[in-house]
Amino acid sequence: MDRVKTGIAGLDEMLNGGIPAGRHVALYGGPGAGKTSFCFEFIYQGAKMGENGLYVSLEETADDIVENMKSTFPLLTDTAQLIEDKKIELIKPEKLDLEEVANLLEDRITSNGIKRAVIDSATMIRLAFKSDVEYRQTLFEFLSLLRNLDVTTITTVEATSARREEMRFDIEHFVMDGIINLYNLDREDRRVRALEIFKMRGTDHSRDLVPFKVTPSGIKVYVGEKVF
Ligand SMILES: Nc1ncnc2c1ncn2[C@@H]1O[C@H](COP(=O)(O)OP(=O)(O)OP(=O)(O)O)[C@@H](O)[C@H]1O
Ligand SMILES: [Mg+2]
Repeated sequence: MDRVKTGIAGLDEMLNGGIPAGRHVALYGGPGAGKTSFCFEFIYQGAKMGENGLYVSLEETADDIVENMKSTFPLLTDTAQLIEDKKIELIKPEKLDLEEVANLLEDRITSNGIKRAVIDSATMIRLAFKSDVEYRQTLFEFLSLLRNLDVTTITTVEATSARREEMRFDIEHFVMDGIINLYNLDREDRRVRALEIFKMRGTDHSRDLVPFKVTPSGIKVYVGEKVF
């Protein structure tokens, strides 16, 4: 099976090599959990490996994302060059519309050979729907469109709770091929970042809750370590 290496330190080991190619993964997390940083690094590492990537931002402008990521990951010094060379593309669509996002993806795949893409966030799109049924239907149709394209995607979803035990199943849990959860766990006097692969269709994977850090050179997942 072809796999798409995330390039995030430790994560590919947990995924037995990477995300199965052509699959569509949801990345869950509360505010500040690290969703945007995680997704940006996924695109960045792909670009370094010769796979062009597209970051579709539905909330922040492309410039804001680039500025924030430069400050979060100051040691990824070639970010600006990769953007200039169109190995990384960042786009904020005008409308909050999944059909428009699908068209955008198709267009960039055809004209720039995009291999991996990020949609940040699905929650922005969901808010535009009056009913959950309508959203679920549209999300399902969106995924059907994506399955005809040669692309691997990560879509962020805002978790309603930062607490692991309060995580409830949402529409995306059932529709998406994979789920990765990011937590900002509450400890006595601090918060600890942790990650788990909750589901990944088509591959065996680690089921451990493991600590991770956002460092200047990228995200580090501490495989085999316990969360304290
Ligand atoms: N320069 C930095 N150095 C260390 N940590 C940083 C730096 N910049 C950001 N962070 C950490 O990363 C967090 C934000 O990460 P990120 O934007 O990826 O989260 P998010 O889940 O996308 O948040 P949101 O829900 O607001 O979209 C900050 O709250 C901060 O803790
Ligand atoms: Mg974000």
